[in-house]
Amino acid sequence: MVEFALPKNSRVVPGKTYKARPGAKKVRTFKIYRYDPEENQNPRVDSYEVDLAECGPMVLDALIKIKNEIDTTLTFRRSCREGICGSCAMNIGGENTLACTRAIEDVKGQDVAIYPLPHMPVIRDLVVDFTQFWAQYEWTQPWLKTYTPPPEKERRQSPEERAKLDGLYECILCACCTTSCPSYWWNGDRYLGPAALLHSYRWLIDSRDEAMGERLDALEDPFKLYRCHTILNCANTCPKGLNPAKAIAEIKKMVVERKL
Ligand code: SF4
Ligand code: SF4
Ligand code: FES
Repeated sequence: MVEFALPKNSRVVPGKTYKARPGAKKVRTFKIYRYDPEENQNPRVDSYEVDLAECGPMVLDALIKIKNEIDTTLTFRRSCREGICGSCAMNIGGENTLACTRAIEDVKGQDVAIYPLPHMPVIRDLVVDFTQFWAQYEWTQPWLKTYTPPPEKERRQSPEERAKLDGLYECILCACCTTSCPSYWWNGDRYLGPAALLHSYRWLIDSRDEAMGERLDALEDPFKLYRCHTILNCANTCPKGLNPAKAIAEIKKMVVERKL
């Protein structure tokens, strides 16, 4: 039977509050989603009062400060701290974005609310399971496919052909777009989602690739491509300023044009 209500054990309940130390000058509260599968308890939201006078400017700085100085059990992913690796993607102040490039002062609201990326299985706290996301990316075969014999040196591209990849190759696979897409929320098992489709397009228009026909054949399916309803959440949320919705529209155009 279809269930329309959340199971009781998935309701988020209020958690602990960690007060700032006396004398803190510039306090802002970070309300952070917490879930530990080993505790067998509902997820909760803990509140951490952080003295911004003694903290770096980015949300990731605050998370690291909380983990180092207030609560070592807080779990999140991060690596590069400069918007390149995509591992610190989370929902901050209601928007999917990167904790390392989002300034604390730019987060809307009195408090800074931090949740895991939406509609993804939570492993612990802010860490979500990317298994399906990576499988969908792999499905797109994100590598150069060729059938003609290789030239003596490299397969060359003109500057104009190379320029067509701008706005696509910069994707860091953070999943902010895919996890903001309502079509993906409801059909994520069959719809590829904006990130994987942006990568599909990146290979479809690579002048050196020789598999356009088979790539389009694989995409022409009622779910993999056509669940995109141009809602544009993906383009609005991408922390790298990319536009997956446009890439998806271009793929749809390619599918139609090859039939003409
Ligand atoms: S298109 Fe943007 S939001 Fe989507 S995965 Fe790539 S970098 Fe992240
Ligand atoms: S434009 Fe398409 S991919 Fe982007 S959020 Fe909307 S439905 Fe999802
Ligand atoms: S830590 Fe690498 S993108 Fe934020």
